[in-house]
Amino acid sequence: MEQGKSKTVSESKIEMHEMVLPNDTNLLGNLLGGRLMHLVDIAGAMAASRHANRIVATASIDSVDFHQPVKLGELVYLKARLTWVGKTSMEVLVEVFSEDYINGVCTFTNRAYLTFVSLDEEGKPARVPRLVPETDSERAEYRAAEQRRTERLKRNNR
Ligand SMILES: CC(C)(COP(=O)(O)OP(=O)(O)OC[C@H]1O[C@@H](n2cnc3c(N)ncnc32)[C@H](O)[C@@H]1OP(=O)(O)O)[C@@H](O)C(=O)NCCC(=O)NCCS
Repeated sequence: MEQGKSKTVSESKIEMHEMVLPNDTNLLGNLLGGRLMHLVDIAGAMAASRHANRIVATASIDSVDFHQPVKLGELVYLKARLTWVGKTSMEVLVEVFSEDYINGVCTFTNRAYLTFVSLDEEGKPARVPRLVPETDSERAEYRAAEQRRTERLKRNNR
């Protein structure tokens, strides 16, 4: 990707569905937290890779709260989009919903912010295109992301 290039949020956003099968659940028939985190990481990585047009590594995952369970036989619906980019790092918001395909009801279950770093052929951080927020909510999200990044780096003594 050429330096100086910019991309919009919608150019890299991802939507992904997965059915909750018995192997994915705990003894209550709810999607395992670890399995959900795996899906969140994958959805986030796809959006970041699409923005960077490169392989990415997960640098951090902010805290995730589990508000509602996703049940056996339901669909997990994940939406991932870029909220901010630095020189080589990108913040991605992943929102998770459970979808009951029998009645079409979709319920918000959780959200997580992840940071990915774009890597070159030698595994070194590589520059990413600038992100152009187009809507008021994308611009507000971008400003909030700068604050989250400051706190995240402080937590990591960086
Ligand atoms: C993520 C990683 C590539 C960063 O490499 P590094 O040598 O520390 O790189 P730098 O210090 O130059 O930082 C690169 C960018 O990442 C950001 N970054 C690094 N660690 C971070 C963290 N824990 N949280 C948020 N951002 C982080 C830096 O702020 C910088 O951002 P910028 O270029 O946009 O300003 C490296 O730490 C790594 O490989 N970690 C392991 C990743 C991994 O195995 N993930 C799980 C499987 S994918």
